[in-house]
Amino acid sequence: RHADACAVVIFGASGDLTRRKLMPALYNLALGRYLAGSFAVVGVARREKSHQEFRTEMKEAVGKFSRRKPVDEAVWGDFEKGISYVPGTFEDKATYQKLREHLETLDQERGTRKNRLFYLAVPPADFGVIAQGLKEAGLVAPSNGKGGSRAAPDVQRNGAPWTRVVIEKPFGHDLASARELNATVGKVFSEDQVFRIDHYLGKETVQNLLVFRFANSLFEPVWTREHVDHVQITVAEEIGVEGRGKFYEQTGVTRDIVENHLMQLLCLTAMEPPISLEADAVRDEKVKVLRSLRPIERSLVTENVVRGQYGRGFVRAEEVPAYREEPDVASDSAVETYVAMRIFVDNWRWGGVPFYVRAGKRLLRRVTEIAVQFKKVPHTLFRPADGGITPNVLSLRIQPDEGISIRFTSKEPGQTTILRDVAMDFRYGAAFGSNTPEAYERLLLDAIRGDATLFTRSDEVEHQWAFMDRVFEGWNGGGGAPPPIYPAGSWGPEQADDLLARDGRRWRKP
Ligand code: BG6
Repeated sequence: RHADACAVVIFGASGDLTRRKLMPALYNLALGRYLAGSFAVVGVARREKSHQEFRTEMKEAVGKFSRRKPVDEAVWGDFEKGISYVPGTFEDKATYQKLREHLETLDQERGTRKNRLFYLAVPPADFGVIAQGLKEAGLVAPSNGKGGSRAAPDVQRNGAPWTRVVIEKPFGHDLASARELNATVGKVFSEDQVFRIDHYLGKETVQNLLVFRFANSLFEPVWTREHVDHVQITVAEEIGVEGRGKFYEQTGVTRDIVENHLMQLLCLTAMEPPISLEADAVRDEKVKVLRSLRPIERSLVTENVVRGQYGRGFVRAEEVPAYREEPDVASDSAVETYVAMRIFVDNWRWGGVPFYVRAGKRLLRRVTEIAVQFKKVPHTLFRPADGGITPNVLSLRIQPDEGISIRFTSKEPGQTTILRDVAMDFRYGAAFGSNTPEAYERLLLDAIRGDATLFTRSDEVEHQWAFMDRVFEGWNGGGGAPPPIYPAGSWGPEQADDLLARDGRRWRKP
């Protein structure tokens, strides 16, 4: 399915996101012939720069960051003709006038048909002023009321032009600021024109969660409290804050990872089958999960949430500094770089099943996985001396080493019955080869096609914050001591082990 002719306008074109993710993704889409011939990319940023200079910079970025290397000269040559640059500050009305004239020229010369995707690769503080600037310059077409649906993508193929806006996290800092941000954007764009990126939803393995659950009949019947003992969701990173100390001091891992990426993984794992893959059908089900989360009231924070902060340690045998020694980080910072929570989804399917979730920087290994642990067998036939029976675990490896495995107990070959834990393993690489698309490719393409299924809706974001806000209140209200220090290169603070030990369970060490 081809995408509409359109112009993608990137605000913040000199930033890291444009170089590392957006331009390589667009180039890969061009390489795969997913884009219409009449396609244009316009960079907008402060610095004066010629079209040619911008193209050269972008080619360099693509050469460095694209998963398909080296750059195909013929494809690039063609793609590059659609790249241009408009200098200007976001506060200046003249920027939007220039942009408007430029886009009109592109409509004439490249046939972009007044279809516009504005990508705000800028801090949220700039969303308001850019949205307003676009509106005043007459660059925002009214909604066609049909965006955001897989059932009716490209609805305006032969009709009125469309305008859409893509925004990047963080969508606020707490519930109040998220609401404010939604209201600011909502003054200019209607909800079906707004595409909020959570790049985890663009990952192949995350999309496969829906296919795995709803295209197979084997697993869904046991995906319930009758059979599941508990679920563990891990988002572990080896990297530290990577020069983003200033940002991290304001954010912490709960806001950076848990509120968005991890909550989305939890929603996709726990949600009921949607009635269709139409954007709102899927998002309605995710919202139901968020509404079912048992609030972690202030007095319950200590019991259900563990924070941590990395100290010095070794990651891959290399000594790394403590968080407090990172540039732009206070020497007595109490910001968490690790968090673990026990969450209950209070609904019919999941009543009483804990979801243990954790995320952290500078952990032993980079791994994102969802592990569903099933209940013990009701009666043991085998002697303890034969080897124990370990409960079945189904783990979905989101990254790296993408795949799905099921652990079960088996008989070791021999004249006596000895039990052994074995795995049935599906690996993406082995099954499909290794050149999987990057999250941003799929997400950009979906935004161009007008399919919002993999984007988060305003109410989703607000529910996510509402849940987290109580935790923050608990911390600020003294419901948690300053985060304990864990050595870089470990699995986090010991207190996180206690969180599960109290329930007679243990974290996986993937
Ligand atoms: C981003 C966070 O949203 O996700 C980063 O701001 C984090 O701190 C990154 O490193 C992780 O993404 P991925 O795709 O590498 O798992």
